[in-house]
Amino acid sequence: MLDKTKFGWWKSAVFYQIYPKSFQDSDGDGLGDIPGIVRRLDYLQKLGVDGIWLSPVFASPQADNGYDISDYRAIWPPYGTMEDMETLIREAKRRGISIIMDLVLNHTSDEHPWFRQALKGRDNPFHDYYVWRDGSPDCPPNDMRACFGGSAWEYVPELGQYYFHQFAVKQPDLNWDDPKVRRELYDMIRFWVEKGVEGFRLDVIDQVAKEPDRMITARGPKLHGYIRELSREAFPEPGLVTVGEAWSADTEEAKRWSAPDGSELSMVFQFEHMTLDQRGEKWDAVPLNLPALKRCYERWQRELHGVGWNSLFLSNHDLPRVVSRWGDDGKYRVESAKCLAAMVHGMEGTPYIFQGEEIGMTNVPMELDGYEDLETVNMIAERRERGYSDADILASARARSRDNARTPMQWDDSDNAGFTSGTPWFGVNGNYKEINVEAALRDPDSVFWFYRRLIGLRKTYPVFREGSFELLLPEDEDIFAYIRRAEGEQLLVVCNLSGRERAFQVPAEFERGERLLGNYPDGGPVLRPWETRTVYLRDGK
Ligand code: GLC
Repeated sequence: MLDKTKFGWWKSAVFYQIYPKSFQDSDGDGLGDIPGIVRRLDYLQKLGVDGIWLSPVFASPQADNGYDISDYRAIWPPYGTMEDMETLIREAKRRGISIIMDLVLNHTSDEHPWFRQALKGRDNPFHDYYVWRDGSPDCPPNDMRACFGGSAWEYVPELGQYYFHQFAVKQPDLNWDDPKVRRELYDMIRFWVEKGVEGFRLDVIDQVAKEPDRMITARGPKLHGYIRELSREAFPEPGLVTVGEAWSADTEEAKRWSAPDGSELSMVFQFEHMTLDQRGEKWDAVPLNLPALKRCYERWQRELHGVGWNSLFLSNHDLPRVVSRWGDDGKYRVESAKCLAAMVHGMEGTPYIFQGEEIGMTNVPMELDGYEDLETVNMIAERRERGYSDADILASARARSRDNARTPMQWDDSDNAGFTSGTPWFGVNGNYKEINVEAALRDPDSVFWFYRRLIGLRKTYPVFREGSFELLLPEDEDIFAYIRRAEGEQLLVVCNLSGRERAFQVPAEFERGERLLGNYPDGGPVLRPWETRTVYLRDGK
């Protein structure tokens, strides 16, 4: 068991992300809920994870599925009550699983009482909680754009002012320059720590120190000062795990975020590796260039080693399903899901598994009018206006929409995949009869049991946590292979990320190594389609 009171325990841990709306319904209203999660804790314990990153469960009008909070100290009623949340924290802890809440500190909902007050007048004590600029209806302060499309400024005629929103109109940005705002947030965090929450994922935390007059959103000059204050005031316990979502981070930034002295956060959650297969906007997908991906990983592995800490992931609620994106969700679905998992879980960092990834869930083919997510819906409208054909738009949405990750969890082959006895809020992927948890648990060769073994390896062999990183075959367009070295131990991870057979010469020293894991029966010098092998060597043996 990990000692979770100690700084750094997360370096041996694996986390699992739950998107509550789509995980497990317990009362038939078609929405996942907290009692549903409690019911599935034994399953997560079987998988072997140490913590749950719980996407927001706070009171919210759900304009952005909970990333628009109207009360940080209340649970959204369809998800359950505060008692349900306390039960979840307690029951999870009993199974060695920490609850990590998702804190949206950059913005609130426009239905948050602070914002309602702020709208009442420039003299209202809450007015300064948000970012306002004077203007006239047809002349916003500048032409900054919101992440979900449209202007980043929304006019409020009664005030003759605009408020700033980096995301949706219903997500006004908080003004971190106001010390009262920061104090409110720290007090709220302590409320949850006292309830037994053991960590926090900090949504778009690199964007809190915005300076719209200088067109700055991420990485504002005051950012690290704010983060250090947050860490001191809200996270004094060395065992609290804090994960900073930072789309803008490069390795230099990441070292500051995750410095081993604990002055900022435990780790960074950055996306450089997930942006290499697009041309400009994320909707313009291009095939993955494997050498570029390998260079990216090598840089992050090398530069953070010993001086920072990264997250390892290929999937979350904002990304399409990786087996469809980089794997083969047809013939080699199982092999490629395992291959991609071994590729990331062998590296240094803390792995995150997004619900359904552990059974190889895939993207969902939908029609344009089926999309729910506001980012996708806005993209469809914007691109139609700009003259894109519906066929083009559909191809982008099918490849990249966040909705791909948000279909209900596939538990079994009964109606609605065992997710709900009612009508699901969002359609179940049609392949649930084949791809579901029950089937995966029955099959010893399933993706699930492969993940279970990967998690076990990280706990057994220190080299997973501590090893240095050496990339092999940097220019190879199919094979991703690397060696990790720690005191007395070496690890070789080989992944053939293609549907072709490929010859591979195992480095001589590993010929006498112990095979820890693979997705085919032991083989010779040829890697089969999407084959992966993990080989271990203890010095002197
Ligand atoms: C983060 C979340 C995403 C959300 C956005 C605005 O990127 O992961 O789901 O829409 O922030 O809060």
